[in-house]
Amino acid sequence: MSHLTRTQVAIVGAGPAGLFLAHLLRRRGIESVVLDVRSREQIETTIRAGVLEQWTVDLMTELGLGERLSREAHFHSGITLQSGQTRCHLDLEELTGGKKVTVYPQHEVLRDLLGAHQGPMEFSVQDVALQDLDTARPRVTFRRSPDGPLETLEADFVAGCDGSQGVSRCHIEGRTEYQKVYPFGWLGILVEAPPSHHELIYARHERGFALLSTRSASVQRLYIQCGADERVDDYPDERVWQELRERLAAPGWHLTEGRIFQKNVVGLRSFVTDRMQHHQLFIAGDAAHIVPPTGAKGLNLAVADAVYLYRGLEQFYAGGGRARLDAYSDTCLRRIWRAERFSWYMTTLLHLNPQENAFEQRIHVADLEYLTHSRAAATSLAENYVGLPLEG
Ligand code: PHB
Repeated sequence: MSHLTRTQVAIVGAGPAGLFLAHLLRRRGIESVVLDVRSREQIETTIRAGVLEQWTVDLMTELGLGERLSREAHFHSGITLQSGQTRCHLDLEELTGGKKVTVYPQHEVLRDLLGAHQGPMEFSVQDVALQDLDTARPRVTFRRSPDGPLETLEADFVAGCDGSQGVSRCHIEGRTEYQKVYPFGWLGILVEAPPSHHELIYARHERGFALLSTRSASVQRLYIQCGADERVDDYPDERVWQELRERLAAPGWHLTEGRIFQKNVVGLRSFVTDRMQHHQLFIAGDAAHIVPPTGAKGLNLAVADAVYLYRGLEQFYAGGGRARLDAYSDTCLRRIWRAERFSWYMTTLLHLNPQENAFEQRIHVADLEYLTHSRAAATSLAENYVGLPLEG
């Protein structure tokens, strides 16, 4: 027997896009049900990067979710770019008229959102399918357990916030997909050690990119560029430290080492779906676009989609019609393509691309020197890094 529930907005996916949307809607009294194929524990503990743009932090505070963040996050007023052994500090706060970046991992954001959400949520669901999307009664069907009954969630709208591997995107008819796969990946480590530096360091080196980031006073996050087909097993701890020591070396500076307790490899790609809606279905976050992590934009882009979708739904339920909903894709995509450009630029600038010749590689070094010596160039990078303003 099939069980039927009704809501206003069915949200598929309890990541940043889905949960921010649920919170924003609830604040306006718009009902939603959030579904996810993952368990709540998986969502809360999967370690993901998190550099929050200022407006994302402000939104969390406005939603009453900023308390733990204000105590535990790291607020950085700048970043360091390194070329060979030469470091250049970019004072983001000064270059952007007071904007900072906040290092607060995505899973912490999700814990705060999940902990405070009052509406219905279903975790570990299976067989999720979307139906009747071109009618006024779209449905999401799913099971609570492998041999449980098929449940039906009927809604006015479906928000597909189910990530790049989710079921939602394939329902967007007539979409064009754009993709670039980079010929390298990142090997990331988590280390028990105090911070080596008070801010993030992004380094371009002839052996490849390295990034020094942080998680807490006692846990540090570091990355090195690796080959696209390399695996964790190719990097015993000593090899990782050797690479980090070389790539991050700078006169008078010392890298603090410690016990490595986690290692992972990720591939880097850029991806955009050039249409994000189909009748009553709207997709948001990684379901619609992927950025390489170099610009630290992924989480913020997902939240921006959620804000634009919320504004459309708010206008609709207030009796204002579908104008904002109809403009949803176009509004999101203007921001998405800018973030894609910036993430591609940071990735290209800082990595050693085996497909580039010596001339192209030398151009990137010149670009880094230009950033060091030109306030205009540094300001352009800074305004993108702290986040372009939301439209409207
Ligand atoms: C991270 O802390 O994991 C991190 C920071 C900045 C990035 C990417 C990842 O650009």
